[in-house]
Amino acid sequence: MANISEDIKLEIKYRNDIESVISQYVNLKRRGKNLVGLCPFHNEKTPSFTVYPENGSYYCFGCGQGGDVITFVSQIEKLDYVEAVKLLADRSGITIPESGYDNSMQELKTRILDINRETARFYYSYLMSPGGKWALDYLHGRGLTDATIKRFGLGAAPDNWDMLIKHLKSKGFSIPDMLQANVISQSSRGSYFDRFRNRVMFPIFNLRGNVIAFSGRARPDDPKATGKYVNTQDTPVYKKSQHLFALNFAKNDCADRIILVEGNMDVISLHQAGFPNTVAALGTAFGAEQVKLLSRYTKEVVITMDADEAGQKAVLRTINELKDSGMSIRVLVIPDGKDPDEYIRKNGAAKFKMLLDKTVSDIEYKLLVSSKNIDVSSDNGRLQYLKKAAENLATVRDRLTVDLYAGRLAEKYGVSKTALLAQIEDLKKKNVRVEQKKEFDRIVTPRYESTDINPDRRRFPKAAKAEESLIAILLSHPDLYASVKERIKAEDMLTALNKRVYAAICSILDSGHPVVDITLLGEDFSPAEFGYIVSLQNGVLAEKNAKTVLNDCVKVILEENMAANTANDKDLSLDDWAAKMQQIAKTKKGE
Ligand code: CTP
Ligand code: MN
Repeated sequence: MANISEDIKLEIKYRNDIESVISQYVNLKRRGKNLVGLCPFHNEKTPSFTVYPENGSYYCFGCGQGGDVITFVSQIEKLDYVEAVKLLADRSGITIPESGYDNSMQELKTRILDINRETARFYYSYLMSPGGKWALDYLHGRGLTDATIKRFGLGAAPDNWDMLIKHLKSKGFSIPDMLQANVISQSSRGSYFDRFRNRVMFPIFNLRGNVIAFSGRARPDDPKATGKYVNTQDTPVYKKSQHLFALNFAKNDCADRIILVEGNMDVISLHQAGFPNTVAALGTAFGAEQVKLLSRYTKEVVITMDADEAGQKAVLRTINELKDSGMSIRVLVIPDGKDPDEYIRKNGAAKFKMLLDKTVSDIEYKLLVSSKNIDVSSDNGRLQYLKKAAENLATVRDRLTVDLYAGRLAEKYGVSKTALLAQIEDLKKKNVRVEQKKEFDRIVTPRYESTDINPDRRRFPKAAKAEESLIAILLSHPDLYASVKERIKAEDMLTALNKRVYAAICSILDSGHPVVDITLLGEDFSPAEFGYIVSLQNGVLAEKNAKTVLNDCVKVILEENMAANTANDKDLSLDDWAAKMQQIAKTKKGE
């Protein structure tokens, strides 16, 4: 467990103004003393992410995440606590003494990155050696130049079980670290072997340019190959849902638009052909974390997938994933050829550029697709299609866009535009009602419930409420601590989370801090737990009556505690009960 000194945590907090740090990632608007914006941790349309500059905290009413500037950076940059502290320290010119924390996790990550770098070098040299000739020929055959091969650090894995292991050993790396890096595997009989064999290797870089993983494509004529692609599984430095292939290269060229394709080869071909703003998801379905990542770099996503059935499904899935992201969505339909890579090789970059200038919007794409399997030459088919089209258009907010498409459809299929627009309006109203109901449910019952992180709350709702109020009051009125500390101990609390929170607060105040700075709690609580604490801190309303409310809380907790204990007594055997009574008597005597 990392252990950074309190002074350093507080210094970092005060030198990194939460408002300006969060503003780098979230568009914040002032609302009274606080600021609000769209939560970067879940998809939403109405802002429920709140920043409280007063005490340096944030809380999302939608997903329950919360914390201080350090946890924010750790969440958004996918860093662990210590790494986030380091990053903020660097940014604000604070040096952390080496003894200030335990960095074993950090050291493991560094060793994994070292292994990955060495492994990439090994694959590259093998590609350039006689043994790798087949792979170099293959890459040349697919139109890649030596410069491209070098830029992307491509390589080849030998057809051999332990060449990489031997190489890494000779460089001083250990087997456990190689396993952690997932460049080697262990057989059921316990022996170790190279994970990638007889494959063309694509290293995957993070935004800082470190090799974090590999994707290996089978040699085309390899009868032993198990699967076309073998990829690195998640490791301490790599979570595939959080990265995009080649974003490290694309990130400086994609402010206006980014091209999203399916395959590594598509990305590399497009980069070579002069489209350096191309990325791909890494062998998995494109997901929410990647959407967030993209939205930090670009305004527009051009989805370009294979023209086949599977590609079409993937486009629709991707549109759906992107639809609430705020980025504009375009689809590039490739008329012939299987994928962008093949199209470019057959037709050249200029033709691809023309396609790029003729992308269709997500709506146009959906309209196009829904006409595909319907026979629009019959009245029935036309009606069926128009209904589908109306459903699609009902999801479009912009009135002019709807008007435009309704006009075109009406003309093309011989119905009145008025009737079509009326149909769309009806569907829109229905959607609005559904949407409103969802919003209402979201506000009334936030997705996050304190019972999720504090399950005991269900059993002891009354006590939990009192505990929460007590904690909330102490967070904003630490001066009242003296009046409760003798009456309520952490053990008296009935719910596990509140016990931990109260114990942490007591320990901070007992050690002489005048206030409970939540930054002193950060490391020991998960983002959801921390969010809970922040929401208690910022939600306290009983300013005037704090003392009275606090006394009520103490009373309720003690009563509930007593009730819970007597209730439990019924379930005790006679012997256990006697033992317990003896224990209580001892405690009273102060033994
Ligand atoms: N993929 C994967 N595992 C598989 C198949 C595919 O991880 N078993 C991923 C790879 O990242 C691949 C992408 O999905 O790049 C697209 O797959 P596919 O179209 O089959 O591969 P291509 O990149 O087009 O490969 P090639 O052109 O060499 O056939
Ligand atoms: Mn391909």
